[in-house]
Amino acid sequence: MARIVAGVTTSHIGAVGAAIDRGLSEDDYWSPVFKGYEFSQRWIAEEKPDVVILVYNDHAAAFTLDLIPTFAIGCGEQFHPADEGRGARKVPVVKGHPELAWHIAESAILDEFDMTIVNKMDVDHGLTVPLSLMFGQADAWPCKVIPLAVNVVQYPPPTGNRCYNLGKAIRKAVETFPQDLKVMVWGTGGMSHQLQGRRAGVINSEFDTLFLDLISRDPEAAARIPHLDYIYQAGSEGIELIMWLIMRGALRREAKEIHRFYHVPASNTAVGHLIFENPR
Ligand code: DHB
Ligand code: FE
Repeated sequence: MARIVAGVTTSHIGAVGAAIDRGLSEDDYWSPVFKGYEFSQRWIAEEKPDVVILVYNDHAAAFTLDLIPTFAIGCGEQFHPADEGRGARKVPVVKGHPELAWHIAESAILDEFDMTIVNKMDVDHGLTVPLSLMFGQADAWPCKVIPLAVNVVQYPPPTGNRCYNLGKAIRKAVETFPQDLKVMVWGTGGMSHQLQGRRAGVINSEFDTLFLDLISRDPEAAARIPHLDYIYQAGSEGIELIMWLIMRGALRREAKEIHRFYHVPASNTAVGHLIFENPR
């Protein structure tokens, strides 16, 4: 049987991807950011997941205002890095796991979560930056990746509670997949940030710390946070944090936080990163 062994959350700051790609990870501004992932890279090299279900949001690269799926699951064989305006990142092509992805789509849809099935799409920094942070610079990503895109760009995004419950549906789906697979679920985006408008640059460390605590120890309370609270407290792009709830719902309630990293600033955001392990 497939099983979910661990969960990861991390910000997906595009500028961090650019820093990695330009070889700037050692410089004074960026090195404190990458320090927070040193433990994580060692940990994941030992854990060796077979598949990562990577919850992220597309930033108008694959989905534009022409097409806005609330939840979209990548069921294809592979996904290329998207050109977001400056050429595609020179990172490996993402290899999918179509059998597990279709199984999750079927299970979740029959459980009344109407996922959009995507066989062909490019993946932007929301997906590739977390891979770079966790695996470093690689010739090939060391595991299969199932992209799960969430609309957090165009109002109305799903509620946090809907995301938390989708996570539970994903857990059920994975646990009924007959193949023996070590699966991780990652929730990306956040933390507090606003990239545009009058409040551009807003960072709220008090809210971020509370959110890290809630997602770890009281995810039901985190799931009750309304959209407007994210926007007031964490800025317009802080709403990306609802994606962390999908990861948390997919893990057991008693999953243990084994790593936490929080750093300000990186580009216009606060970096937040957690690792959870399910009980063995
Ligand atoms: C940046 C991009 C993002 O998508 C995000 O969520 C935070 C920061 C950036 O490039 O600075
Ligand atoms: Fe983003």
